[in-house]
Amino acid sequence: PRTFYFSRHGESLFNVMGKLGGDSDLSARGRQYARSLPRLVSTFIPSANKLTVWTSTMRRTISTAQFLPNNKLAWKALDEIDAGVCDGLTYEEVEERFPEDFANRDDDKFNYRYIGGESYRDVVQRLEPVLMDLERQTDVLIIGHQAILRCIYAYFMNYSHERLPYIKIPLHTVIALTPGAYTCEERRFKVDI
Ligand code: F6P
Repeated sequence: PRTFYFSRHGESLFNVMGKLGGDSDLSARGRQYARSLPRLVSTFIPSANKLTVWTSTMRRTISTAQFLPNNKLAWKALDEIDAGVCDGLTYEEVEERFPEDFANRDDDKFNYRYIGGESYRDVVQRLEPVLMDLERQTDVLIIGHQAILRCIYAYFMNYSHERLPYIKIPLHTVIALTPGAYTCEERRFKVDI
């Protein structure tokens, strides 16, 4: 059966500061993850040398993929959820400056759309061409973002819209999914950094 792989980018400077969005580069830990990826991939992925690596157009995913010798493709459609006016804020700052929005997002995280930005529903829609392509491909490794990978995971694992925005996609872990006729098999490879 056809397996594909995905990982969040290595820890970013914004991750360390707890800020949403942005286009920051990797932290020291994140760079270490990037350096450890080629060995992780060649150890656990049988088709390692045939893989195509898909990234977003953001620094943190491109930097994470930089040491992989494979062909790469950067998709704009894989960029992280656009937090609009909340881009660059921490969750605490969002709650302080936009209390109503903060509460609305908590009420219905899938449908809540950031002011000047996107909802998870919007992201699912813009991911459609990526998912269509992914279904036809073999040997793909996606280096992505938290919200994006939640949508991709939910698509293959049949998670509801209610659960989707809360799926845990840990940093520094490669997840392998093998879609079958009825269920999807999952494996995880974690790097301790
Ligand atoms: O914090 C990292 C991040 O990728 C942000 O850029 C993004 O806004 C957020 O995660 C998405 O997660 P949630 O929908 O839980 O806020």
